[in-house]
Formats: sequence, structure tokens, C-alpha cells
Amino acid sequence: MSRLLDEEQDLSKLPFAQYSDPVRANEEAELVKGSWQYFGPAEKVARPGSYLAGHCGVVPVVVVRDLEGTLRAHVNVCRHRGTVVMRGDGDCRRLQCPYHAWTYDLDGTLKKAPRSDREETFDESELSLLPARVSTFGPLLFVAIDPSAAPIDEGLEDLAGSLSSIGLELGDLVFHGRSSFEIAADWKIVLENYLECYHCPTAHPGFASVMDTSPERYVLSEKGSLLSHQAPLGKRAPELYTTGGISAGGYFVLLPNHTFDVNPGQPNLAASVTVPAGVGRSRGFTDRYFGRDTTEDFMKEMIAFDDEVGAQDQDLVEWVQEGVSSGALPAGRLLLDSEKLVAAFQAAVGQALERRRDTQG
Ligand code: FES
Ligand SMILES: [Fe+2]
Repeated sequence: MSRLLDEEQDLSKLPFAQYSDPVRANEEAELVKGSWQYFGPAEKVARPGSYLAGHCGVVPVVVVRDLEGTLRAHVNVCRHRGTVVMRGDGDCRRLQCPYHAWTYDLDGTLKKAPRSDREETFDESELSLLPARVSTFGPLLFVAIDPSAAPIDEGLEDLAGSLSSIGLELGDLVFHGRSSFEIAADWKIVLENYLECYHCPTAHPGFASVMDTSPERYVLSEKGSLLSHQAPLGKRAPELYTTGGISAGGYFVLLPNHTFDVNPGQPNLAASVTVPAGVGRSRGFTDRYFGRDTTEDFMKEMIAFDDEVGAQDQDLVEWVQEGVSSGALPAGRLLLDSEKLVAAFQAAVGQALERRRDTQG
């Protein structure tokens, strides 16, 4: 039984008000914004002068490799009237805002603000882009805008260890592409759905025909900030899934809001971030990585496999949102064996919110 499940409170009770309370939604958005967040593929900022724009929670961030080779990150919001400065990815010598052409150096300092010489007082040195933090883990980039964001290195090390144990080395992966999503459900409902495979036999017949989803063989585990599923191959799994080095499915949540999926077969990884986007809504993106030698056929099949499961899950979580926010019931009843990671997630989010409230007085 997990550490988090030993606590006194009744973790089988799942209060529903948390999924449609605007105060709570705000607090959780701040919690996510204050955490280290997966940002994108490190290969996009490998060259001096290359940049990648993205987000930390809902906050625009740009990561850039300066001409000396140092990786930097800035809040990507113009100090003038607040436009998002850089979009997409590419190469640049300066960061120039598309609105009135305020131009920042790659280190974030404001270099040029047209017509600022006509102002009585204008101090460029006070108008640098706000700083952000950036870090790489294998092929993955992470950012944080909160200087006190708790480190995630341990969770990432544990993730790398678990991936390695099913035959996947993070360092062997290359970026394939990104897809974005918007879901009419609270971010926690999305993550909680991900954290159990109790629904797999009913809701994902395709998935359940490849993996063994029986409670005796499908392993759920918790270590620090990493919540893991290990899904053994089912007896009738097609050959595509049984050859290629990855011996089992691995599905991971890195708290608070990352998921990492690995399907059995050839090297593959899908890294997703789910961000709170207002009451009962979330959005995010999925970055797909494959091995250098992963075949086109396998990639196509994996994307179709994940898309099928993803579409089924989107319906489910939106139906949950409709039910829990209807006011019909005060709470649900979790199964603490099959849904122990849901309970662990609930406890971890609750504790993180408490910590934030304590530190913010
Ligand atoms: S908002 Fe950026 S230059 Fe005006
Ligand atoms: Fe699902």
C-alpha cells in the first residue's frame, strides 16, 4: 500500500466540488505555472542562435541558445504592451516584438525601443524580458518561471530508470512531431483518467487486445513524484508490438501534470503536458519521439493506436466533467486497489496546494 494511502483521511471518497470551483481552479493553475514544465525537444535549440517558443503553464516562454552556446529562457511577453514576442521556432540574432519592434538581445536585455529617445525618462535597463529557467533531460527540454519551483530531477531519473527497464533509452530518441488538444474537462479529471486502467477493458477494446489489463498482471506503482503503470503484453498481441526491443507498455505521470507513454515494440515515447485552462477546461500538447531506426509502419500504427485511445478518453473525461459539475452528487467512491494512483494523485495535489497556501500565508 502506498505511503499516500496510509494517511488517515478517507481516500476512497472523491469530492466533486473540486472540479468546478473557480477558486480552486485558479489555485491549481498557479500550482502548475509554479512547477517545472516539459517544454519541447532540446534538438530545436541545439544551434547557436536557435530558439523555441512555448509555455510554462499558460505563460509564454522562449528558450534560446545564445551565440556563445549558452541555453537561456525568458518570459516571452513584451515589456511594452505585453505581446508575445517570439512564435514557433527557428534562428535569430535578436528577439524582436512584432508589434512596435522593441528588440531584445538573446540574453533578454532591451536593446532598442523605437522613439524611446523622445521620452523624458526611459530606462532600457529596467525593461529586460523577465527571466525563466531552462534545463535539459536527454532529448527533453524543461522550463520554470518560478525561482522556487521544486526540482524534478529525481522524478526524471526515476522515469529514465523505468523506461530503461522496459528497453527504452531516452538518449536514443529523436523528435517526430507535436499535436495539441483542448478538452472540456478539468485537468485533474484528464490525469486521473490516465492514472487507472480499470476502464481499459470497457472503454479501450483495442488497447485491451494488445495489453494484459488484468489486475493480477497490470502493475501500478508510486515513487515520489512519479506514478507508473507497467502493462505487460497480452497473449494475442500482434507481432508489431512484440518485436523491436520494448517489452511492455509504460505509462507515467510525473507530477503535477506530465504524462509519458511508451508502447511495446520499437522505440517510442509520447510526452504530454495538460494545463488547467479555466473552470472545467484544460488544454495541452503531445510531443512524439521515436528511435532513429523506428520504421514508418510502426510510427503510423503507434500514432493511430494512441489517437484511438485518446479520442475514447476525451469522450470519457468530458462525460465525467458533465456529471461531477452537475451538482447531482457530492462525491464519488474510488476503488483503492485499481484506482490507487488516482487517490495518490488527489493526495499529492491536495498537499501541494496546502504547501502553496502555507508559503503564501
Ligand atoms: S508590444 Fe512589443 S513592441 Fe509594442
Ligand atoms: Fe483511457
